[in-house]
Amino acid sequence: MNEVIKTINNLRSIRKFSEEIINDDKLKIILNSAIRAANASSMQSYSMIVVKEREIMKSLTGYTGSVAIVYCVDYFRYLKLAEYLDHSYDVFDIISFITGTIDTILAAQTSVIAAKSMDIDSLITNGVNRMGLDNAFEILNLPEKGCFPLITVIFGYSNEKSKKKHGRLNDSSIIHYNKYSKLTEENIRTLVETYNNYDNPLGLINNWEELGLKNYLDWLFTRWLGSNNLNSTNDGLKSFYDILKKIGFLKYSNFKM
Ligand SMILES: Cc1cc2nc3c(=O)[nH]c(=O)nc-3n(C[C@H](O)[C@H](O)[C@H](O)COP(=O)(O)O)c2cc1C
Repeated sequence: MNEVIKTINNLRSIRKFSEEIINDDKLKIILNSAIRAANASSMQSYSMIVVKEREIMKSLTGYTGSVAIVYCVDYFRYLKLAEYLDHSYDVFDIISFITGTIDTILAAQTSVIAAKSMDIDSLITNGVNRMGLDNAFEILNLPEKGCFPLITVIFGYSNEKSKKKHGRLNDSSIIHYNKYSKLTEENIRTLVETYNNYDNPLGLINNWEELGLKNYLDWLFTRWLGSNNLNSTNDGLKSFYDILKKIGFLKYSNFKM
């Protein structure tokens, strides 16, 4: 196995970091790696905001580490460039948002891999959604148009001893050849059992039986997706849509709350 594949195989989410600081040379490598990711129309439709203050990380995401990078979908730069050159550019819509999201996520994941290759661990988190998007706009002084704090990565040195690798689905329900193969009832039964396998945990918890549930997926659908998910609370969903609308990405949408 070559070193890159080994690095990718060793990726895991770390939630407790030591006090050790990532030095600026390594931070620069992480940032420079991120910008090497492919990006649509060569527009790099993202910005990366580096946060070193632990208190700010905490109030933004609920987590702390040595450094946090907030990866924002960002077209504000182009808005300003177009304005300066007297072009009528304001094509923010849901397609721009999706395209910018792809650019942003590729940059984020590339930096996660670069960090791991230097023994720096990380946690990808959407904690900003839980802590409040308005809060993030204020703390980070985000522009009023075209910029959305999509995802944060907390980087640091792990304080979790010999963290076990989290399982993954790796079967025909995930990987298809030539065409999509729809799940049979047998496949579905197998999947439910795969999620129930304590020896290869795929999910977020392992005590669903203690909680009176037969299957892990019963917990996922009723407890996790039922209560914790942003989409399940009208307020969370409304704030998400309101902000997307305000910054210009829902221009052509008929969405009504
Ligand atoms: C979009 C996204 C958001 C996530 N948000 C959180 C989070 O807020 N808190 C957390 O503990 N883990 C978060 N994670 C990490 C996942 O829980 C983790 O990747 C998954 O459980 C698999 O574990 P592993 O990365 O260690 O293999 C997030 C991952 C992604 C991709």
